[in-house]
Amino acid sequence: MDQETSMTDGKTLEELQALDQAHHMHPFTAASAMRDAPPFVVDSAEGAYISGQGIRLLDMMAGLGCVNVGYGRKELAETAQKAMEALSYYHSFSAVSNPTAAALAGRLADIAPDGMNKVFFANSGSEANETVLKLINFYWRKKGQPEKRIILTRDYAYHGSTIATTALNGNAAMLEPFGIANEDIVRVASPFWFRHGGDMSPEDFGKAAAQAVEDKILELGAENVAAMFIEPVQGTMGAIIPPKGYLPEVERICRAHDVLLVADEVVTGLGRTGHWFAQETFGFKADIMTLAKGLSSGYLPISAAMVHDSVAEVLESGEHVFQHGFTTSAHPVAAAVALKNIDILEDENLIEKIRKDTGPYFLKKLKELEACQLVGEVRACGLFAGIELVRDKATREQYPLEAGICEHVGQAALMRGLIIRPCGNVLVLCPPFIINHAEIDFTVDVMKQALDEIQAAIDAG
Ligand SMILES: Cc1ncc(COP(=O)(O)O)c(C=O)c1O
Repeated sequence: MDQETSMTDGKTLEELQALDQAHHMHPFTAASAMRDAPPFVVDSAEGAYISGQGIRLLDMMAGLGCVNVGYGRKELAETAQKAMEALSYYHSFSAVSNPTAAALAGRLADIAPDGMNKVFFANSGSEANETVLKLINFYWRKKGQPEKRIILTRDYAYHGSTIATTALNGNAAMLEPFGIANEDIVRVASPFWFRHGGDMSPEDFGKAAAQAVEDKILELGAENVAAMFIEPVQGTMGAIIPPKGYLPEVERICRAHDVLLVADEVVTGLGRTGHWFAQETFGFKADIMTLAKGLSSGYLPISAAMVHDSVAEVLESGEHVFQHGFTTSAHPVAAAVALKNIDILEDENLIEKIRKDTGPYFLKKLKELEACQLVGEVRACGLFAGIELVRDKATREQYPLEAGICEHVGQAALMRGLIIRPCGNVLVLCPPFIINHAEIDFTVDVMKQALDEIQAAIDAG
């Protein structure tokens, strides 16, 4: 019996699928999908490919935008084993630490933007953002300004799945089923030029979107506004890349009104846009940033909230205990894996490779898809891309979401061995950093075929 079969007690694939259907509640999954068909069981992965049930697929989503160094890295498995043998677990509450967490905190301070020197560890992006929400309230209360409670967020935002982070999201479908409402959270427009920019140039639209932030702060009263959350590239809702100048202008506005700027770098952090952090790519500086997915390339759960010295100074003044933390915050094994993951990024120059080679090639090849009737815009930053589908290229009119055009294209690509992610009317790609030119060529060929197949089906009525 091989190791995997012994872990699952020698059960057959069909038995495991039946157990899963009977007992496993899946994230972001319709119950009917689990009733109607057995789940696809993935049981191995190597490089940029995942495999299961005899099928091998090129994963241009790196899992959920996290497996940045690629699957199946033996050095990460060996690191985890060694770290677990040395110290399987100990907590980090009440001023206790462990060697790998201490080293990781120092390493993150080294690579983070200037002045961002303190880190709080959690286990997921949602937990990191939730931590930040509490840090923000703690900060303003310590500063004697407890009335600063309002958090600005944007349309099309995604910041997580806990109750508080769900309330930050810009998609009503995620709020309504749970009756989640939070009067301290206020939404402003996204700089989503293709969908909302009309006849304006991207730069003018970016300026208008930033002005909308300032107008909202003035309307609410700056004395009531605590912070603004931004994903530098809004990923989950369609890889929305901000127009040049927008993020520096938002930073200027936040500073002018004493509003903390939070960069949710859960997807963009650790290299995806061709720099360690998207703050470098877009030329702005946040007061607080969150990291998760790429921190361990998804090999183990670990996330981080990092704060600038100016924020830490306030948080750490006086004797108050920060009443917050998780049993597995700063887990020694996850921290060891994150350190090794950063070594790999550095040793293999993966981020520079995105900036100088794979990123530009990815954009150039994907741009070929703009010749397809269904494609309104191709946008990409580093290895993060969105292919926006339209019914009419000239007017940018979209197909109704109920038509499921994007899902059909995603399915047609899957049948040809390629994983891309349909998000509303946008196909999102977020491949591992080890992707090569041949795999990018394959991706574009398959996407052309998939888009043509669905266009032909639309034409045939
Ligand atoms: C920008 C952003 N923030 C936060 C999250 C939540 O991270 P997690 O799923 O690890 O809780 C995600 C997840 O996709 C994300 O894309």
